[in-house]
Amino acid sequence: MRGTGRFAGLVQIEGTPDTDPATGGLRHRGTRHKAPRNLTHMTGSTPLGMPPMPPPTTDPPWKKAWDAALYGPEGFFRRESPVAHFRTSVHASPLFARALVALTRRAGLDTIVDVGAGRGELLAEAHRIDPTLTLLGVEVAPRPAELPEAVAWTSALPESVEGLVVANEWLDNIPCHVVEVDGSGTPRIVHVDPASGEETFGAPLADRAVPAGIAAWCERWWPLAGREPGARAEVGTTRDEAWADVVRRVTGGVAVAVDYGHTAQTRPPSGTLRSYRDGQEVDVLPDGSRDVTAHVAVDAVAARVAGTVVRQREALRSLGVDGTRPELALATRDPQGYVRALSRATEAAELTEETGLGGFSWVVSTHADVPPASQLLS
Ligand SMILES: C[S@@+](CC[C@H](N)C(=O)[O-])C[C@H]1O[C@@H](n2cnc3c(N)ncnc32)[C@H](O)[C@@H]1O
Repeated sequence: MRGTGRFAGLVQIEGTPDTDPATGGLRHRGTRHKAPRNLTHMTGSTPLGMPPMPPPTTDPPWKKAWDAALYGPEGFFRRESPVAHFRTSVHASPLFARALVALTRRAGLDTIVDVGAGRGELLAEAHRIDPTLTLLGVEVAPRPAELPEAVAWTSALPESVEGLVVANEWLDNIPCHVVEVDGSGTPRIVHVDPASGEETFGAPLADRAVPAGIAAWCERWWPLAGREPGARAEVGTTRDEAWADVVRRVTGGVAVAVDYGHTAQTRPPSGTLRSYRDGQEVDVLPDGSRDVTAHVAVDAVAARVAGTVVRQREALRSLGVDGTRPELALATRDPQGYVRALSRATEAAELTEETGLGGFSWVVSTHADVPPASQLLS
């Protein structure tokens, strides 16, 4: 590994079809809500008034099926390149990498660790912008052949990091439990048949077989008590834990998780599970043939790491990403300069657009002697 050793000791982490011409045919994930899917509803009692049947399924809960689909031996992300299937801020524009390099330097740091680094596009761009940076990608997929040699690559998180740790659209791909209120008003774990996507109810949250942390998380962050049958929650315990595990390794520096998400005021009533393949949104299916994702409860993640939630729009603007079109007069004075400035402004506009990438959340925490997020991003 190259560099000054600012990360040390690598350990494994536990852990409607259409295209969008504005984004080169590839969809941003997380920018639309869609109708709930059909669940095989078990009612509170049978039509003859008998008690409900035990869960009629040997199917795995969502978390297990999702985990196998994305990260099993033949899992989606072990084979597939994210950019072949959807477009993130990293792919939208090099301005995103430029902003993160600016944040790194503003915090007095010289190291970037990218968790869930995809094919290393962010780090390759950061290296182009500033070849003196120490760069590490953490990713389950193998090292991309075209990655600059100066970028280190691993499947394990470093034990400690002094630098900027970023995870762009990583937490939404951390599998989580799905809970739904059944016909009698009882929240239950949802199971799924990985081959058909058909869902069935499992144990009630109050059941002794269900880890108490799931009910506790729902009660605190996404309450289902008194909600109508069909109301759903995606339980953020795994995302909170995953991010806390990253942040506890940051001995000095900044940690930034960037994702689409919601807060207590904006929880989607029917959940947000989605699948993407080849640039299109497709039926949700945890069979390994497609991406499976759900929005992140960003307030819960932030609370877990004493972080601050900032919208991408504001964060990027504070780092100099500006979508204002250049003055027309420049076109006469310097036509090539005008075209370059217009292209930059168009890319910046995509990164900061309210209803698209600009509406994403940054969960920012700073550590040791690095100034707080309010100062870094002002
Ligand atoms: C949605 S992609 C985002 C890729 C990239 N950050 C971007 O913005 O284009 C999520 C990535 O996280 C990776 N990933 C998920 N869990 C991981 C883990 N535990 N360790 C390393 N990489 C992981 C996946 O393989 C996938 O490449």
